[in-house]
Amino acid sequence: MNDSQKEALLKKAKEMLAFSYTPYSHFNVGAALLSKSGKIFGGCNIENAAYGPSNCAERTAFFNAVSSGEKSFEAIAVVGGPDGQIKDFCPPCGVCRQVMMEFCKPKEFLILLQNDQGQIKEFTLEEILPLGFGPADLEK
Ligand code: THU
Repeated sequence: MNDSQKEALLKKAKEMLAFSYTPYSHFNVGAALLSKSGKIFGGCNIENAAYGPSNCAERTAFFNAVSSGEKSFEAIAVVGGPDGQIKDFCPPCGVCRQVMMEFCKPKEFLILLQNDQGQIKEFTLEEILPLGFGPADLEK
């Protein structure tokens, strides 16, 4: 991925913040997922009065893409903060890391984060989910 592709993905993630539904936490998160076919799928967090059914931005982006027929992915950008204001980096929760593990190659899939200073942090899935359990483990 080159720098302009990374900026485009982060820009889409920031645009998704506006769609977050967060009446309980007031913490908005936006995500943008790049498929290997070159399409970008957006996601936002969607909360629920029963709390448990709430969905993170990253999983919304994955479910949006998979339900559109995509199953191969290159990278995801994630941004978030209180009341939709980005402050610090917003790393994916453990459940979202596991969903990434289902569809992505741990050594190749990239997670891009950005803070309010415009600084970018970049990790592979393997770095943020070491020794992850995925579909291949069921074949062993
Ligand atoms: N959240 C995400 O959408 N993604 C993350 O990476 C971290 C947390 C959401 C879940 C909940 O709606 C709110 O942020 C506060 O935890």
